[in-house]
Amino acid sequence: MLPIVDKPLIQYAVEEAIDAGVTKLIFITGATKRAIADHFDSDAELERALKRSGKDKILEQIQHIVPKGVTCIYIRQGEPLGLGHAVLCARPAVGDEPFYVHLADDLIDGEPPCLSQMAAEYERHGGSIVAVEPVPKENTSSYGIVAVDPARDNQLLEIVEKPAPEQAPSNLGVVGRYLLDSAIFDKLENIGEGAGGEIQLTDGIAQLLKEQPVHAYAFKGERYDCGSKIGYLKATVAYGLNHRDIGDDFREHLKTLVC
Ligand code: G1P
Repeated sequence: MLPIVDKPLIQYAVEEAIDAGVTKLIFITGATKRAIADHFDSDAELERALKRSGKDKILEQIQHIVPKGVTCIYIRQGEPLGLGHAVLCARPAVGDEPFYVHLADDLIDGEPPCLSQMAAEYERHGGSIVAVEPVPKENTSSYGIVAVDPARDNQLLEIVEKPAPEQAPSNLGVVGRYLLDSAIFDKLENIGEGAGGEIQLTDGIAQLLKEQPVHAYAFKGERYDCGSKIGYLKATVAYGLNHRDIGDDFREHLKTLVC
């Protein structure tokens, strides 16, 4: 729920998903994440108050937090058993369709947005897709790292969760965007604990790629790791500078601070 300028990160995630054509949003939440459901709920009383006081712009904004025709489903992950486990929690709501996984902490400023870029990739070759970007070699232990075959549209040869730099098969790190075949669920049911004692999505994908193609996609855009203090600050500054209403004032202010 951390805001970047004037919207929580989860709102950016939802807008990116809707841009890619998603009509069913599944939120996997933990014990302390009730604010997410509240944020996406409508508030008739607030809407009436805004209408009465003529605040039409804000009224329109809150009425479009979730557009008509989009359904929100909230699933509690009883215990924090890892990303793979969180994805598995979505199984009953996803069924047998391909689906996106979006990690809201990874904010990507892309045009078109990253999930839409991946949807276009899917049209080209189908299968599953993980978004990647080169990461500094010394940081491989913070990412899933892939080895790819450039001759076959960057099909994955290998994926390893958070390897030490000397064990990493490349410097291509997975970022928080995936388009997955529902066959991943059976893999996740059976892999057991991986790195950090958690059920790792990476390990499920490693099983999946033995049976069907998984491609790496080097997205176009700038990623901000909003799970880190510096990434969060960089995102705030970048989105502040680009903001329609306050961008110019903010730029002038920054000039007085840095020179
Ligand atoms: C998760 C995944 C990792 C991926 C990363 C992207 O790690 O396990 O493979 O590279 O997201 O942000 P986390 O950042 O949750 O530790």
